[in-house]
Amino acid sequence: FRVGVLASGTGSNLQAILDRVHGREAEVVAVGSDKPGAPALGRAEALGIATATFPGAEYENREARDTAMALWLLEQRVELVVLAGYMQLVGPGFLGRFPRRVINVHPALLPAFPGLRAVEQALEYGVKVFGVTVHFVDEGVDSGPVILQRALELPDVTDPDEVRDRLRPVEHDLLTSAVALIARGAVRPDPDHPRRITVKD
Ligand code: GRF
Repeated sequence: FRVGVLASGTGSNLQAILDRVHGREAEVVAVGSDKPGAPALGRAEALGIATATFPGAEYENREARDTAMALWLLEQRVELVVLAGYMQLVGPGFLGRFPRRVINVHPALLPAFPGLRAVEQALEYGVKVFGVTVHFVDEGVDSGPVILQRALELPDVTDPDEVRDRLRPVEHDLLTSAVALIARGAVRPDPDHPRRITVKD
């Protein structure tokens, strides 16, 4: 099962996939980034995995970048695209080429706190329970059908970096599980409820 990953940053989620799923349930065959020099790319290169960068400045608009990225991933015969800290929206030119084949990891219990400032907004709201969501990507912001979620009680934490540090291992667990489950064919849309995803191993 051939997996492509898009990442903008350090790539700890990518590393979790490489450590726990790659060479087992799935093969990571391509890693792309919008950021040249993103540490995530180095993690892939170290294993001889194909990498490519798609900086916004090189394209007329987001749609052109998305199309180039999607065509590159299709060339690598990718069956599932994982957004692992890819900090851009992907538009219809991308999603249309991978229908129901793009997943994302988000550091909040969606539909609470979508978007880039999820942890800050949760702290501002004063929640005591944080969490992680892995979901299919649609054209909205963190709005696609939920695959896996896990809550984490942090009643006394007030620092966003500390919340992120505590959530990161949860992200790694859920994202690696989701990739393995999808590779095994255990993740299916419920035909009667388009938003509801059944996960049956
Ligand atoms: C994660 O917190 C993820 O939820 C967010 O971006 C971060 C990526 O971290 N969308 P890493 O690059 O995988 O370490």
